[in-house]
Amino acid sequence: DRRRTVRDILGRKGAEPIVCLTAYTTPIARLLDPHVDVLLVGDSLGMVLYGLPTTLGVTLDMMIAHGQAVVRGSQRALVVVDMPFGSVQESPAQAFRNAARVLAETGATAVKIEGGQEMAETIAFLVARGVPVMGHVGLRPQMVHTLGGFRAQGREEAEAQAIMADAQAVAEAGAFSLVVEGTLAPVATRLTQAVSVPTIGIGASVDCDGQVLVIDDVLGLFSDFTPRFVRRYADLSGAVSEAAAAYSADVRTRRFPGPEHVFGLKASV
Ligand code: KIV
Ligand code: NA
Repeated sequence: DRRRTVRDILGRKGAEPIVCLTAYTTPIARLLDPHVDVLLVGDSLGMVLYGLPTTLGVTLDMMIAHGQAVVRGSQRALVVVDMPFGSVQESPAQAFRNAARVLAETGATAVKIEGGQEMAETIAFLVARGVPVMGHVGLRPQMVHTLGGFRAQGREEAEAQAIMADAQAVAEAGAFSLVVEGTLAPVATRLTQAVSVPTIGIGASVDCDGQVLVIDDVLGLFSDFTPRFVRRYADLSGAVSEAAAAYSADVRTRRFPGPEHVFGLKASV
């Protein structure tokens, strides 16, 4: 079963929904790979794995290290690596230099760039030079300080039209798909009908051409808060707490290690 290509993803427009989850590590990538079309090494890893308050502190080196881990742990999913804040905004040349490092050093197939009309020129520059790009419109976490916080996008008609224009510009620039985040459902639906490339929703609409969630949210592992758009499929936080409590009790009462866990002389030798 060969690895999915950007052409495979493009072919899913208006067809069977594209299944996408984030992954940051080799063991999780191994577990998810049989079940998904796309593994996204999201810059959400800054908050999920490193405890950062926003994604702004994530570096290119962090993305490359985790991109390598996810490529090693997968065979069949298309791996997309987020370009972190500051790595693409200066110029198309800066973006190409950094995106080329990501593809060359990780073996991932594509990068994802947050942005709308203002990033269209950069996206076209990259696509024309061999870097497949996934777009990301609507709520853009790297814009947190400009936005003054996070809220669903597209409530006012002007805002909805700006998101539509962003999506059109990014699709026309050559992006092979488009994450639509935190966008009013009717706007995300309209946008999905308007663009020629597949949309992948998160807090968007069931009518998007695919869906993505942060894996730690899905597993109930990241418990700071759970946004409305998350569906939890497991409670790993509970499982981890129980395991840690049981281990702690065993150590304190000398029930661990047991005879089977220690190296002793063989009996009667
Ligand atoms: O960083 C991330 O995990 C993302 C997805 C939520 C789309 O960008
Ligand atoms: Na991201």
